[in-house]
Amino acid sequence: MSAKLIQLVNSAFFGLPTRVSSTVRAVNLLGLETIKTLILTVKIFSQFDRAGLPCYSISSLLDHSISTGIFARSIAAQEDLGQNRIDEAFMAGMLHDIGKLILLDKLPERRLEISDACNSSACCLWEAEQNVLGTTHAQIGAYLMGIWGLPESLVEAIAFHHCPSRCSNRSFGTLTVIHLANSAEHCGYGEKSTKRLDLSYLEELGIGDRLSANYIIKSDSIQEVMSHAY
Ligand SMILES: [Fe+2]
Ligand SMILES: [Fe+2]
Repeated sequence: MSAKLIQLVNSAFFGLPTRVSSTVRAVNLLGLETIKTLILTVKIFSQFDRAGLPCYSISSLLDHSISTGIFARSIAAQEDLGQNRIDEAFMAGMLHDIGKLILLDKLPERRLEISDACNSSACCLWEAEQNVLGTTHAQIGAYLMGIWGLPESLVEAIAFHHCPSRCSNRSFGTLTVIHLANSAEHCGYGEKSTKRLDLSYLEELGIGDRLSANYIIKSDSIQEVMSHAY
């Protein structure tokens, strides 16, 4: 656990100026809440990282989760949401796709069916899951987080991260941040990412016109970081 944690902290995701060799130093540099979230994430992913599950899926999902968490945290900070929300945004970003691990583990035989549905109707993964299984990785992950007693705002952010307009909450919060960060992380930064955005939701919040300026045009900096992540 410590070794994996130190490896992550030293990865380009966190851009630390010096190499970290102890968990105490990691806490000093990144803060206790960030380290707690990293430990929880490493623990969850390690439960699934075993024979029988495709390793490539798990490691690329971990990369996507870290990148989304870091991007979500930076959006929350730009919006001055306060330290608690910034920490929650990071945790929600790290855990938002945890339902994918559960599906890989519990229903591996449905993977092909879901990816076929995805390709044949050119829809998003979560829409294919909805068609094939009647539920999505977002709903499954949120259900687990609810059972674990995590805050309602975090459960809500995970449940609706693809389609926030289906949630009754219309305030700028963790759900908004995760939706923006996940869309940009999945599609890169630029015009393509707007295809995944729930524009009616963002317009209702009054932030549709700020998107390109503040969040979407992030050049390729995160993709550059991703390519040198470990
Ligand atoms: Fe997702
Ligand atoms: Fe995602």
